[in-house]
Amino acid sequence: MLASKVMSLVENVDYLVIGAGVAGLRAAITLADRGQVLVVTKEAVGESNTHYAQGGIAVALSGPEDVALHLEDTEYAGDGLVFRPAAQVLVSEGPLRVEELIRWGTRFDRGAGEPGTGHPGELLLAREAAHSLPRILHANGDATGAEISRSLLALARQHPQIRFADWTMLQRIVMKDGRAVGADLLFHANTRGPRVERVGARAILIASGGAGQVYSDTTNPPVATGDGIALAALAGAELADLEFYQFHPTALALPGVPRFLLSEALRGEGAYLRNDRGERFMERYHPKLELAPRDVVARAIAREGMGGADPEATRPVYLDMRHVTGIDLAARFPGISRFLAGHGLSLQRDLIPVRPAAHYLMGGIRTDLSGRTTVAGLYAAGEAACTGVHGANRLASNSLLEGLVFGARAAEAILADAPEVSRIEAVEAGDGALGGALNPDSGVAALVRDLRAAMWRNAGLLRDETLLRSGLKEQEAIGERMREITESTGPNRDLPGRALIEAQSLIAVARAILLSALAREESRGAHYRNDFPKRDDAKFARHSVFSAGAAGDVRFEQW
Ligand code: SIN
Repeated sequence: MLASKVMSLVENVDYLVIGAGVAGLRAAITLADRGQVLVVTKEAVGESNTHYAQGGIAVALSGPEDVALHLEDTEYAGDGLVFRPAAQVLVSEGPLRVEELIRWGTRFDRGAGEPGTGHPGELLLAREAAHSLPRILHANGDATGAEISRSLLALARQHPQIRFADWTMLQRIVMKDGRAVGADLLFHANTRGPRVERVGARAILIASGGAGQVYSDTTNPPVATGDGIALAALAGAELADLEFYQFHPTALALPGVPRFLLSEALRGEGAYLRNDRGERFMERYHPKLELAPRDVVARAIAREGMGGADPEATRPVYLDMRHVTGIDLAARFPGISRFLAGHGLSLQRDLIPVRPAAHYLMGGIRTDLSGRTTVAGLYAAGEAACTGVHGANRLASNSLLEGLVFGARAAEAILADAPEVSRIEAVEAGDGALGGALNPDSGVAALVRDLRAAMWRNAGLLRDETLLRSGLKEQEAIGERMREITESTGPNRDLPGRALIEAQSLIAVARAILLSALAREESRGAHYRNDFPKRDDAKFARHSVFSAGAAGDVRFEQW
């Protein structure tokens, strides 16, 4: 057991940002011009979903017609549920934000003047699924997120008003008179032992990303456990559209190997999908073939034998680039090529086995167009938030753009709204132990494994009432077992360690997904119900809104 420290007030900061991906960093840079910013990040600075984004950032750089087409594509992919004003903001403010990023030092790939590599110095635009034309900027081939993260971090680190708390996570949002006034932060990898400290802030921005770890198969890194979403809900914030979890169609499917993302850009460069009979099966599913919207492609792969309700199904599906000529695949996709080579595979030579994996949460903490949640003092941006911009299915490469645009808007709203800092009194919690939270025998890890498998089986690509109800039953049993473990960890149950916070968050997010998916009795975008296979606009062209609490209410609202 590790001794914890007395919880005390560290300090007040002007602005507390939870998460150091694109949305959090972009917001911090604006906020820092007007006050001190503390950016909290669960692992090393730079470890975020943003860092792993491969394909790129979609942006309409060539004028109003381009912007209008980007809006059209975003709405088409979102399957009748995109909140148009949010999408309008995304596509029209996107170019400004990307140009700003370039001024700040982000190096997107540019033409070299050689055959097939564009005019010298010109930004290279790639194509991805459901985009009507090439509009995706990329960096270092397939490492766009890492480059954006690098440049934003470089800028943020130079700013005297921005400090980072790494290996630190949100434990609780502190409320006073109905307003978020601070947070308890768990410094979980402190060399002198974990400790919790309370920080007061004028405003708190949740930019902690999604919750891919709620599924056994995910392209997300281990940090993506939905803590920000679950803890915001616990503080009273409404969540929205939680039933819409995007499954990326093509994650590498090798036994014992993590579901490494095989970017949509591969299909943008001409990759085919083939089943185990060698058929190019997308011909049967959508006129845009491999470049159909992501939800359509993912379900087609599930139906061809993998990634569906039965996780053990073994009929493989392959990505095939062997016919692609005139492009140096190793140069265009260096990261992917390196990873595949490590497993004896080559894009030029081999069929690459793929299956869908949980990738991106369209839903999240409900916000207005400027990141305001339903709780005063609490804001959200990026994947953790839900503005309705993606509707039921996000258009490829719109997520980095979302983080930039809505991160900046949230910062502006915070500055416009921020009241005086109200000081928070120190809360003494006493010495104690984190106990079971860090004890590998506590059973928490096994519970999380069971939860993730249950979610994949019951709330994956193909759902129905029986599956969802059985998922709910498993989630409740796991939640109950978790409560027993928490209560048995002794006097310090108010000081859970990382493993406990993550497990509790995953359990809470799973519940919101299951209840929202049960309530939506139709199929739309990423949410497919075998028992309600059609889209039902009369009843469900609305956003689901979930409030945490004993009943876990879901209602539908027109935005
Ligand atoms: C990809 O490269 O396929 C992922 C990009 C995205 O999620 O939009």
